[in-house]
Amino acid sequence: MSVKINDKLGRPLHDLRISVTDRCNFRCSYCMPQEIFGRDYQFLDRSELLNFEEIERLVRIFAGHGVKKIRLTGGEPLLRRDLEKLVEKLAGMPGLELTLTTNGGLLAERAQALKEAGLNRVTVSLDSLDDEIFASMNGVDFPVEKVLEGIEAAKVVGLAPIKVNMVVRRGVNEQSVVPMARHFRGTGIILRFIEYMDVGTSNGWCLDDVVPAFEIIKRIDAQMPIKPLESNYQGEVARRWQYRDGSGEIGMIASVTQPFCGDCTRARLSADGFLYTCLFATQGNDLKKLLRGGASDGKISDAVASIWKARTDRYSEIRSSETTDLPKVEMSYIGG
Ligand code: GTP
Ligand code: 5AD
Ligand code: SF4
Ligand code: SF4
Repeated sequence: MSVKINDKLGRPLHDLRISVTDRCNFRCSYCMPQEIFGRDYQFLDRSELLNFEEIERLVRIFAGHGVKKIRLTGGEPLLRRDLEKLVEKLAGMPGLELTLTTNGGLLAERAQALKEAGLNRVTVSLDSLDDEIFASMNGVDFPVEKVLEGIEAAKVVGLAPIKVNMVVRRGVNEQSVVPMARHFRGTGIILRFIEYMDVGTSNGWCLDDVVPAFEIIKRIDAQMPIKPLESNYQGEVARRWQYRDGSGEIGMIASVTQPFCGDCTRARLSADGFLYTCLFATQGNDLKKLLRGGASDGKISDAVASIWKARTDRYSEIRSSETTDLPKVEMSYIGG
């Protein structure tokens, strides 16, 4: 049985984002800059990661509190060995939507197996179609084509609707906005533009690096007219827009200029089993200690409920020069 719980601001627990590894084969400048996440960086040890049985047990407990949507993230989730086995376990639970966020580098060879394991859909990160910009932003030495092949493979096996996330940085990839829109228009793939955020403490974020959503809308509208669309559901992160000629939709994720904390129903579980109630949290709650300390399902369930009921987070709404400098956890650790 599932019983809904609300936080202190009346927001129900609905989504659980699970990071399955803090490692990544990309080094995006806005997330894991090479200077900090270099060869000496201490990633989590394998023994610290929750195993698939532990994750499955927690998902059951969260589902009991009303969670309906699971997103597997990382780091790069496809780097977690045998991820398909976890997908299979979670897909066996009724009433859960199961999605995955990936950088797409390994997607072409994994899409079929993920689909067969029961994954519903994927979201792929891609910041430019230009190899040089792509490489300079993401620190990889393979062509954009490889990610496009991954997207195509996901389409072929039916991991739809496929979404593509593009983080826009001033002076870095803003010239890729219109080409990206043009490329995905008419394909059924939903491209979303994301305002660069001050997550973590490594990326040296500053407000001048943010391209506000209204500016992105203006640039696209000037070339390919668009109009706003209703949200699919309350609390949807992306604001939807539609091409006026009916050739598809795009989304704007404007967490800096138009924060959406008021409807935030997302909890996050790190790969080592800490529960976070906000993307910008500085501290998590150790569920692994309970799992490995022999706690009963009931006890863990009570702990989750009391953490959620005490939640007051609304970071993006209260962002200021002081909050930007807080020692926040990294996005690669907490999960995008
Ligand atoms: P669907 O609507 O199910 O496709 O999911 P989504 O839009 O919630 O998913 P996705 O994980 O693709 O989120 C896209 C991006 O939005 C993330 O990579 C973040 O940059 C941003 N984002 C997602 N959730 C939050 C959040 O709770 N707070 C903030 N500030 N940003 C978020
Ligand atoms: N700002 C906005 N989005 C970010 N992501 C990672 N770091 C940032 C940031 N600083 C998001 C991207 C990527 C996902 C995995 O995390 O959308 O697609
Ligand atoms: Fe890796 Fe995604 Fe972070 Fe880029 S944004 S470094 S692909 S986890
Ligand atoms: Fe939710 Fe925190 Fe993001 Fe606001 S800043 S939408 S509370 S995760």
